[in-house]
Amino acid sequence: MIDDDPADGWFPESVAARYDAPGGANAPEVVTPAVDVLEELADGGAALELAVGTGRIAAPLAARGVPVHGIELSQAMAARIAGKPGGAAVEVTIGDIATARVPGEFSLAYLVFNTISNVTAQDGQVDVFRTAAAHLRTGGLFLVEVGVPDLRRLPPGQDTVPFAMADGYVGFDQYDVVAQQFTSNHVTVSADGTGRFRRIPFRYVWPAELDLMARIAGMRRKHRWAGWDRTEFTADSGSHVSVWEKTA
Ligand SMILES: C[S@@+](CC[C@H](N)C(=O)[O-])C[C@H]1O[C@@H](n2cnc3c(N)ncnc32)[C@H](O)[C@@H]1O
Repeated sequence: MIDDDPADGWFPESVAARYDAPGGANAPEVVTPAVDVLEELADGGAALELAVGTGRIAAPLAARGVPVHGIELSQAMAARIAGKPGGAAVEVTIGDIATARVPGEFSLAYLVFNTISNVTAQDGQVDVFRTAAAHLRTGGLFLVEVGVPDLRRLPPGQDTVPFAMADGYVGFDQYDVVAQQFTSNHVTVSADGTGRFRRIPFRYVWPAELDLMARIAGMRRKHRWAGWDRTEFTADSGSHVSVWEKTA
């Protein structure tokens, strides 16, 4: 039984221990295109990852010679960064991305893998944009990767959308469209019949709302792509990679 520290929030040791499992978001075909874009946008300067996690993206970016600083709430997640190729070069500050400030000026700040939605209040999400802007040079860029709210899958009167059903695993999201919140639910049943139920709260956020948050923080949108391949964002896009520029 792993001893989880409540200070690590929704990503304590028991989650961190499984986070870097091969495949999925850790597969090279997922990581490399993201690192390619981030290296280019850093444009020879330093990069700040908000919610750096286990360094899934920060370590390979640092391995390419980009100076990377990460802010992260969970000590258990951050403890894994240094052991990865490139990870020893990543500077880490334990803190909240809504309020933390670190030394230095950055060309690029980024927040990937839907993590803006882990901040569950609108004011908190605005503060995350302020954190990014506070660390950027004029002309510096803030990149966010996040899903488009999936409300079109909710029939009238229904609040739950299943997203996965496999051997021993059921995943479903439960929406509160008044509060603009959803909870992701993960039910895992092992072969011996023991079960695990994990729930994580999120605040979904609209693309245009993010643009307004950027404006509040002194940034203007420069790009909105459907993904790391920089294809056009359309009505059918399930997620987006958006980039704002800090204005003078
Ligand atoms: C889905 S993981 C993403 C980690 C990493 N960016 C990646 O792409 O693999 C979300 C991370 O955000 C961190 N996190 C959530 N809310 C945070 C906050 N308010 N301040 C700092 N880190 C936060 C969690 O501890 C977790 O490590």
